Amino acid sequence: MLWILLVSALFTVFSCEKKEEPRMSPQEVKELVGERGCPYCHDMRRPLLGPSFVDISKRYTEKDRGELVRSLLEGSRGKWGKNAMPPQKLSEEEARLIVDWILNLKYDLN
Ligand code: HEC
Repeated sequence: MLWILLVSALFTVFSCEKKEEPRMSPQEVKELVGERGCPYCHDMRRPLLGPSFVDISKRYTEKDRGELVRSLLEGSRGKWGKNAMPPQKLSEEEARLIVDWILNLKYDLN
């Protein structure tokens, strides 16, 4: 009987471990964005070569997450002006974290 408890306890531990996703604080994501060179074309609030992150945040909602991840990985053109964004060197995981961070910017405005 004891071994059943033991096995199910072990199983619980391992399945929890699997579900755990790498989490990053907003500050850590912002640092990642800096490391990847995005600020060369994007400012938080002012348009540069590309739209500001705040403007992007205001234009999209959570349901556009997939579209934005695709823009990052495959590039984007024609949505904001005449400048195009080349595909960015990011893992899909990084792209998701960054897109969530951008989408959340609009809730922090004051
Ligand atoms: C060489 C300049 C350049 C770099 C570097 C760049 N972008 Fe862009 N980005 C642009 C331009 C230009 C657009 C507007 C594209 C368009 O009109 O469709 C854009 C658009 C976007 C959008 C909106 C896409 C959409 O579908 O509306 C997001 C999100 C974005 N950039 C995030 C990033 C992130 C994050 C990085 C860094 C990993 C990055 N960009 C690096 C120029 C750049």
